[in-house]
Amino acid sequence: MDSFLPYITGDGSVGLYSEEFNDIYHSGYGALTEAYEKFVNPNLVLKDDIKVLDICYGLGYNSKAFLNFNKDINKITFDCLDIDKNLILLSPFIKTNHTLKDYLIKPKNKHARVGKYKKYKIDSWVNEILIKNLFEEFKQDFYLKSILDNQKFAPYLDAKMIKIGKFYQKFRINTINEPQNSLNLHNIYYRYLSKRYNCNFKKDIKFNFYVDDARKSIKKLTEPYDVIFLDAFTTDKCPQLWSIDFINELYRLSNDDCVLLTYSNSVLVRNTLIETGYFVGKILNEDNKSIGTIASKNKSKIKNPLSDYELGLLKTRAGIPYRDKNLSSTADEIINSRKTEVETSNLISSSKYIKDRGKK
Ligand SMILES: C[S@@+](CC[C@H](N)C(=O)[O-])C[C@H]1O[C@@H](n2cnc3c(N)ncnc32)[C@H](O)[C@@H]1O
Repeated sequence: MDSFLPYITGDGSVGLYSEEFNDIYHSGYGALTEAYEKFVNPNLVLKDDIKVLDICYGLGYNSKAFLNFNKDINKITFDCLDIDKNLILLSPFIKTNHTLKDYLIKPKNKHARVGKYKKYKIDSWVNEILIKNLFEEFKQDFYLKSILDNQKFAPYLDAKMIKIGKFYQKFRINTINEPQNSLNLHNIYYRYLSKRYNCNFKKDIKFNFYVDDARKSIKKLTEPYDVIFLDAFTTDKCPQLWSIDFINELYRLSNDDCVLLTYSNSVLVRNTLIETGYFVGKILNEDNKSIGTIASKNKSKIKNPLSDYELGLLKTRAGIPYRDKNLSSTADEIINSRKTEVETSNLISSSKYIKDRGKK
């Protein structure tokens, strides 16, 4: 927990930097903006009962942005996978919408960029639903105090959500025993909380959390999904979650119209998705620049397919996938075995491919 360094990102939402991994969890230009631009696909036609698989849930920006954007869907279930429970518990309490005061907090590391105009937001009801779900799932284990009283995080926490969290803690843990507990809490919730926000709480919104290595959690899942987010650290930092064997598991869990969304543009990732059997395309921003990848079993879900040049590039050595047959190898083992495969491969290198054809 103490190895995180929080900072305000360019759109006013909070990002984290991990001293342990020497990597950022969120983009400096805007943690929330990134979630909306890469993981909320406005072109998707969604039905009224949606199942979402959020791999590397972290602070939950992707699921929260998705829920906020699709507020008219009546039934949504999020299955959220992360190895770190502290982040999950922290997720509803972290500020997502900036105030002027937030900008006065000096950025603490080189990743922070301050002052971008903020276009996206998360309504309070999304975090409230999350708090309710977390208390239901983790019960006594919800050690709110140690998280919310941590001075290091104080400037980055949402005061209103802390109040609501403490309210839950009081009623849930101290006063009432199961099964009366659920009924009372339910009544309190509807009477006091649901009235305050313009949201239909009759909706069926459920978050399930799997706290473990995603390679173990994924084996427990059987139901097909409509949407999958893959937001792991980069391929060289976390090869475990980009291997063809892990992506095969995602293919198994994708229904026929499922879309898998990731921020990665990497040749390795795109080729791995294709070799698994997905159709693959680009996620484009407003300037038509590729900012991520979309994959689906259904070709018609791919609005921006890869060009012939880009497809050719995938079939160079750079596209050779990571392998992790039993989903249990270490990062070093996975990286080293790919290195050997690349060195002995007959495929041309990506640099030769680019040199021969010119960079496009
Ligand atoms: C780039 S961050 C994801 C940010 C997140 N989507 C959010 O909205 O805050 C990567 C996440 O991967 C998690 N992680 C790293 N290795 C993992 C593993 N083997 N299984 C599951 N989660 C893992 C980290 O705890 C971290 O939260």
